[in-house]
Amino acid sequence: MHMRKKKWARPELAACAWYTEDGESRRNCWRQAFDHPEHPLHLEMGCGKGVSTALMAADNPGTNYVAADLSADVLGCARRNAAAALGEHPGNLILLQADICFIDRVFGEEDAADRIIISFCNPWTEHPKHAKRRLTHPRQLVQYRSFLKDGGEIWFKTDDDTLFLDSLVYFDICGFETVYLVHDLHAAGFQPNYISEHEQKYTEAGIPIKFGIFRKTGADPAWDPTRYRLTPGVRKETLSRLDRETDLRNV
Ligand SMILES: C[S@@+](CC[C@H](N)C(=O)[O-])C[C@H]1O[C@@H](n2cnc3c(N)ncnc32)[C@H](O)[C@@H]1O
Repeated sequence: MHMRKKKWARPELAACAWYTEDGESRRNCWRQAFDHPEHPLHLEMGCGKGVSTALMAADNPGTNYVAADLSADVLGCARRNAAAALGEHPGNLILLQADICFIDRVFGEEDAADRIIISFCNPWTEHPKHAKRRLTHPRQLVQYRSFLKDGGEIWFKTDDDTLFLDSLVYFDICGFETVYLVHDLHAAGFQPNYISEHEQKYTEAGIPIKFGIFRKTGADPAWDPTRYRLTPGVRKETLSRLDRETDLRNV
């Protein structure tokens, strides 16, 4: 779905002190960009219009957030949503325009992120060869591992069953352990949950939201992430494994 170009977005972003297109120059020193460098650092990948970003940052002044997206048009909306929730000078939020496919050019080991948030990334389910574009694909997860603390977490939610099941395999083989997993987030009542624009849309359509928390372990992935793609057979196997381990579905 393409968004109509917003003429006001780029000028407003250019005038915004808490927006950057030059993430690479802050690599390994992101924490110093905040009023309180000692606070936990949470990174949101593909924040879109920042509806949940604004809620999260307002609710958690003791956490620093970097919210990244490729599109200046949606980041323009995110800036307005955040300014409405946090005022014109939030001390705990930076908006970043960057291509997450190359995100290890922007964040390094010394940034030591505590959490990565991925909400409703594009599922890329039409053809297996497109799977590598997913923000949860192993070629992304190995990058995230490089700037996520040991024990740091990825919080992932989606409406899409195929993306979710495939991602469970991705997390598993990339050295992340499952801490929490639920196939209907709203029925489970998990908190805190900050509802994003897409979450609202899918919830209104009656689609259950799948959600998991995956923790980085010491195990390094031992295969070539650039070549990995999930086959339908692997997906089927994952589903039956999950059915056998039904307790995972209702934690
Ligand atoms: C379906 S929207 C979800 C937005 C928001 N997280 C939500 O839940 O409403 C996916 C977002 O990811 C962004 N995105 C997709 N691929 C990206 C990439 N490689 N780098 C940066 N952003 C990307 C898109 O621009 C879009 O804003």
